[in-house]
Amino acid sequence: MLSSAVGLYGSTSQNLNKLRPRLGSAKDAVLKLAETNEQGWLKSPDDQGMLKRIKALAREKKFVKNCLVLGIGGSDLATRALYQALGGKNSAVKLFFAGSNTDPDELFEILKSLNLRQTLINIVSKSGNTLEPMLCFFRVLGALKKAVGKNYGRQVVATTDAKNGVLREMAEKYQWDALPVPSNIGGRFSALTDVGLFPLALARIDIGRLLRGAKNQRNEFIEKAVSHNAPAIFAALQYLAYTVHGQKIQVLMPYSHKLRQFGFWYRQLWAESLGKRVDRNNRVVKIGPTPVAALGAADQHSQIQLYNEGPHDKTVTFIEIEKFDHDLEAPQALNEMPGLSHLAGKKFSQIIQAERLATALALNQNNRPNGTIFLPRIDEERMGELIMFFELAAAVSGELYNVNAYDQPGVEAGKRALRDLIK
Ligand code: PA5
Repeated sequence: MLSSAVGLYGSTSQNLNKLRPRLGSAKDAVLKLAETNEQGWLKSPDDQGMLKRIKALAREKKFVKNCLVLGIGGSDLATRALYQALGGKNSAVKLFFAGSNTDPDELFEILKSLNLRQTLINIVSKSGNTLEPMLCFFRVLGALKKAVGKNYGRQVVATTDAKNGVLREMAEKYQWDALPVPSNIGGRFSALTDVGLFPLALARIDIGRLLRGAKNQRNEFIEKAVSHNAPAIFAALQYLAYTVHGQKIQVLMPYSHKLRQFGFWYRQLWAESLGKRVDRNNRVVKIGPTPVAALGAADQHSQIQLYNEGPHDKTVTFIEIEKFDHDLEAPQALNEMPGLSHLAGKKFSQIIQAERLATALALNQNNRPNGTIFLPRIDEERMGELIMFFELAAAVSGELYNVNAYDQPGVEAGKRALRDLIK
């Protein structure tokens, strides 16, 4: 990311030093939002009551084989990302996702493939009135009642605002189990609350370890000066790239199939938190980096041409996995392929890491700023750290851009327009 590696297009240590006092204030502002309880996501890793509540309900619902999670945006993307990264190993309950679209084919196929008698429906909507998930919920609810009969209610869990909203009222009226979304935690910062943790716990993912990872990252952020503070430095480098070098596109490119969904979560976090019309002083600024989710190595044959030779308007952040769960050896039979014989006997992990490095070196040579997050492995603790890392980076970035990272008035505008169209 630095000019020492990529020349004129990289950030200089002078600019970083100049930004340091503002970065310190940004860090303080983020911590203050937590201290005053204006924002609750920084404290959720400490919430033992939440952990107990979720584990108890997950135990109670162990009789199901599937859980259909219905949600959109912040009520959906983190759960998908964490399930893709961590699910599978001990997963007695399989998670399925819908409610983020009104695509009839999608819901039809899901309903056709699921045995609803063995399925829990987890409707996740903080407001309780978002069109897409609620539409799907009501459709699924009808099918569930038909399949299960009068006891259908024990197969519904509503995750919604602790006090307000129609979904909360319905849960009380029909005596469905309900979990709270704290009022001081917005959708895209709710990964490590009941929103994401309940379905993950049901799928036997160790949510205690997820929270521990997040807590470690959060504590490190609190303790370390901004000059040695990873989320703060990441935010500063992306901010300088945007404001000084006009690099307004910020790509996240994990070299791991398990992190593909994570890229979509990052995309929402970065876009909704930082893309704003007005700043905190109500001045029109129309600001915000455009996040892009790419995947290594696949997108080397789709995006890298553009990143290497197109406009100097991007930064690329890679994620490298240092140790994969499984490894494979490239067979000796590759010796028959003159162009690929050098791979014979090498490990796949070694090859994918070399691909990441080669891509980074090529970007360096073309003066394209890039950085790499090295993840020792994909497990609950590291994923908790990674979620907290990006949430902190988004929060610090919000302070640097001087925008409210926690609202999304631009989403509301589209909702209003739709209401006028479908009367
Ligand atoms: O990050 C956000 O706040 C949004 O993406 C919301 O999560 C999304 O609009 C869904 O809202 P709700 O949970 O109220 O259905």
